[in-house]
Amino acid sequence: MKIAVIGTGYVGLVTAVCLADMGHTVVGTDVAPEKIDMANRGTPHIYEPGLEELLKKNLKKGNLTFVHDLDEAIQSSDILFVCVNTPQREDGSADMVYVEGVARRIAENLNSYKVVVEKSTVPVKTSMWIKKTIDSHKKSDVKFDVASNPEFLREGSAVSDFLNPDRIVIGVETEKARDLLVKIYQKFEDRLLVTNIDTAELIKHSSNSFLALKISYINLISELCEKTEADVEQVARGMGLDPRIGGQFLGAGLGYGGSCFPKDIRALSKIGEDLGVRFDLLKEADRINLRRIDVFMDKVKESLWIVKEKVIAVLGLSFKPETDDIREAPSIKVINRLLQEGASLRLYDPQAMGNVKEIFPEKPQQVYYAKSPYDAADNANALLLITEWEEFKELDLNKIKGLLANPVIVDGRNIYEPSRMRELGFEYYSIGRK
Ligand code: NAD
Ligand code: UGA
Repeated sequence: MKIAVIGTGYVGLVTAVCLADMGHTVVGTDVAPEKIDMANRGTPHIYEPGLEELLKKNLKKGNLTFVHDLDEAIQSSDILFVCVNTPQREDGSADMVYVEGVARRIAENLNSYKVVVEKSTVPVKTSMWIKKTIDSHKKSDVKFDVASNPEFLREGSAVSDFLNPDRIVIGVETEKARDLLVKIYQKFEDRLLVTNIDTAELIKHSSNSFLALKISYINLISELCEKTEADVEQVARGMGLDPRIGGQFLGAGLGYGGSCFPKDIRALSKIGEDLGVRFDLLKEADRINLRRIDVFMDKVKESLWIVKEKVIAVLGLSFKPETDDIREAPSIKVINRLLQEGASLRLYDPQAMGNVKEIFPEKPQQVYYAKSPYDAADNANALLLITEWEEFKELDLNKIKGLLANPVIVDGRNIYEPSRMRELGFEYYSIGRK
């Protein structure tokens, strides 16, 4: 059994490498030639802990290859994992143009029975469209199946999430496809959930939207905490101790970013709308999330009064720690607002500065990329904490205070203790606590 992974982005590259590590023979392919060349050299085009090591190991073992030619990858494989992007369209729906394009290529190259596996996050009923597309473009009467195997990995812990999953969801409609997919994931037999395809597709969108809801819920509670003497960290802890609620994803802050929650909550809302089910619940969660930037900027203004001509250090640019991904990162919105107001920025991130430079190139008096958090803090009027990298939790705060022109910290992720910050002499602003 040979597996092709079509689209070697954040999900596809991890999928290809981890499936190979599980002992399968895998070929990865992508329309971006540089991603394939880098993968073949053993260098991932993204930063993801543990990925490079595993990529090198499996390339060496010989059961993992990357090719430029999609036709070759399809023809030589039995199981095709489709991992292409499904970005947001203007109306909030998922853009299925890349999935459709791959389905047509599969049809043209259908030389033997294959299972087409949706790994990308897709709207419920997508399998019907893939089937229809392949059926109407295929040149022979070779049989195929479509299946759904949504991916639940998180960036920053993608490799360990893939290799230690909570659950493997498999949506199928034939015994043959079921048996093949169960065999691939035999190792996780105890965690398999086999459903029909619509259910599997919906599990993915429902899970992401629920997690996003949870974050918006605690962020709304944090707004209430700011109007009272309540402390959002303690409220979250008190809630999370109830196992029916659980403590995870109750971190109040700048809100959720990334390539998935923002788009998936809108996609599910649009799916509901199209099918006559109102999802105002999700729309409100989206609105709460968008408001997080305003709430944060209000704190910046509370601390500085006028932002114009102020020097501001910004720590943390990736949408979450342990990744270089800046898709829908709160930092981008904050930087835009600060630049509009005429601030001079000193930016720092352990991994994402290369990506951010493509949006905001270095410019004298406006944008400077610092060599370290301390370099960023040097002579700044305030320091803003946007992403909670471990290294920021361990900063020498006395040194930071000595470097800052004014000892002001606006912490968008609640990584420091307010009482300790006061003791150290900082004017400290955080989320939902005093
Ligand atoms: P990505 O943009 O990083 O990767 C997609 C890749 O597909 C790109 O490298 C692109 O060049 C390639 N591609 C596009 N069209 C192609 C084609 N016709 N043939 C071959 N390659 C093609 O996106 P991603 O973050 O990896 O997400 C992929 C899918 O997985 C999305 O549906 C996303 O919602 C879902 N997902 C993402 C994550 C995550 O953490 N990033 C987690 C779970 C699910
Ligand atoms: C998320 C899901 O956690 C994965 O299960 C899913 O596979 C993936 O989306 C996807 O479909 O792409 P990811 O976006 O990589 O994973 O990262 P998360 O750890 O979920 O964080 C998402 C965003 O929520 C980040 O911006 C993070 O800062 C924010 N967040 C998270 C909070 O604001 N508070 C929290 O308590 C947790």
